[in-house]
Amino acid sequence: MAAHPQLNRHGELRHLLSIEGLPRDVLLHIMDTAQGFMSFGEREVKKVPLLRGKSVFNLFFENSTRTRTTFEIAAQRLSADVFNLDIQRSSTAKGESLLDTIANLEAMDADIFVVRHSQSGAPFLIASHTPEHVHVVNAGDGRHAHPTQGLLDMMTIRHYKRDFHALTVAIVGDIVHSRVARSDIHALTTLGVPEVRAVGPKTLVPGDLRDMGVRVCHDIEEGLRGADVVIALRLQNERMAGGLLPSASEFHMMYGLTPERLRLAREDAIVMHPGPINRGVELDSAVADGPQSVILPQVRFGIAVRMAVLSIVANTSA
Ligand code: CP
Repeated sequence: MAAHPQLNRHGELRHLLSIEGLPRDVLLHIMDTAQGFMSFGEREVKKVPLLRGKSVFNLFFENSTRTRTTFEIAAQRLSADVFNLDIQRSSTAKGESLLDTIANLEAMDADIFVVRHSQSGAPFLIASHTPEHVHVVNAGDGRHAHPTQGLLDMMTIRHYKRDFHALTVAIVGDIVHSRVARSDIHALTTLGVPEVRAVGPKTLVPGDLRDMGVRVCHDIEEGLRGADVVIALRLQNERMAGGLLPSASEFHMMYGLTPERLRLAREDAIVMHPGPINRGVELDSAVADGPQSVILPQVRFGIAVRMAVLSIVANTSA
């Protein structure tokens, strides 16, 4: 039997590459570990020595504000030595291959690679070529997966809603290009959410999501009605080949999250968004900055989740 790409023979997390294929107890272990780190930001001394002497390399081949910064904060709070490779000034720009770059960084005694890449599967490729003591964490690969975003989204939902078992979660917008949507759907179904809806136009919400147990809604009102959690997604213009949408303003007219539309959801519904947000496209400022928005708490929870993931993988043997 082939080895699991993410777990060791004891079922412990060695690499975090995707939420797909991870058992419920592994997700809960990460979330429970993150819970212990949640109050760190309020401490006078924000550090613990869990990763002292370890080297964490942040390799962001694609732009990022939230993920890159919160991974760096997380690694520093765990007392790791953190190195941010400046991809634009690295030898990647001279044509060095991804695996050659990785081999050279391994020669510098890397312990953990945090990787964002525009190519789906790049973190899997790296994980399959690294020595046993090196760990890989996916920080977003193409349209495939963004597992730490999925986990911080689950932390946010658990924080505000306590339990997953009676929830309706509506994911609204550009789902076809979204690695966040895919990671959220895998996490929500694994954690037992009974109704996950994918809401948007046919060009951006593929019907085969039904095979993942998702209710597909092309009508925004049907999609939002009675929802406990609304996750708005950015239009991923950089991944659209063109012709999928008439215009951003037309998308807003048909599917944008306005205060009027949000009233269709439950009164205590929370509004989430992975960021960066396009105000006036997928959601109005009145919603993004409104009382139901938990978009900035999501970012804060991301630090605790990334501390949990780094500390767990670093202490898992092959
Ligand atoms: N949510 C997210 O991945 O944001 P960044 O692209 O800024 O990291």
